Amino acid sequence: ATPVIVAIDGPAGTGKSSTSKAVAAQLGLSYLDTGAQYRAITWWMVSNGIDIGDPSAIAAAAGKPEIVSGTDPQGPTITVDGVDVAAPIRTQEVSSKVSAVSAVPEVRARITELQRSIAASAEQGIVVEGRDIGTTVLPDADLKIFLTASPEARAARRSGELKGSDVHSTREALIKRDAADSSRKTSPLAKADDAVEVDTTELTLAQVIECVVTLVEEKR
Ligand code: C5P
Repeated sequence: ATPVIVAIDGPAGTGKSSTSKAVAAQLGLSYLDTGAQYRAITWWMVSNGIDIGDPSAIAAAAGKPEIVSGTDPQGPTITVDGVDVAAPIRTQEVSSKVSAVSAVPEVRARITELQRSIAASAEQGIVVEGRDIGTTVLPDADLKIFLTASPEARAARRSGELKGSDVHSTREALIKRDAADSSRKTSPLAKADDAVEVDTTELTLAQVIECVVTLVEEKR
């Protein structure tokens, strides 16, 4: 079979990561979490004292860290300059700063290039999840999915994942991050015209996975 490229976009808390990993594992495809890459570059900026409020400082530093993603869906990895950052990129500090860093065009250009080269070298094909994969990174993807869910469902899922967080503050933080991601100038969060929209509010994870697997199989 020829490699199949699947783009899965949508806001936070729609089940993108769980769905993308499971679909890739079931179908023997690689998996790329592009949010982890933006989190990793944000973690590096914070760790190196770059002023997150200063887009020109972010732009000037954008080329410095070396970000490497491991694409096995059974155990994806992310390193920055050889350091495993899987845990520190999930802190609230990084979550609250990532939208500002990912809005900087120099950051997007660099990470987009990395994403395209990873997708091009995936021999069996790849599931790539993010915000702008179907619209910008891989506009020729074989299948584009746009996952949505009500803000309540998304906040409930996220606060279930994050220990010690309450649903209300998680909901506020998610809404703020989505608004920033959707309103930025360079490749905002958006549904591609040819994407299949799946509202996951009333669906179990297993149902979403089955739906996407069926759609991929139709394309193969
Ligand atoms: O998917 P996740 O919630 O980990 O993404 C973290 C952040 O990375 C998003 O809120 C967004 O600012 C940025 N991002 C992006 N483009 C992508 C993936 C993520 O701008 N393709």
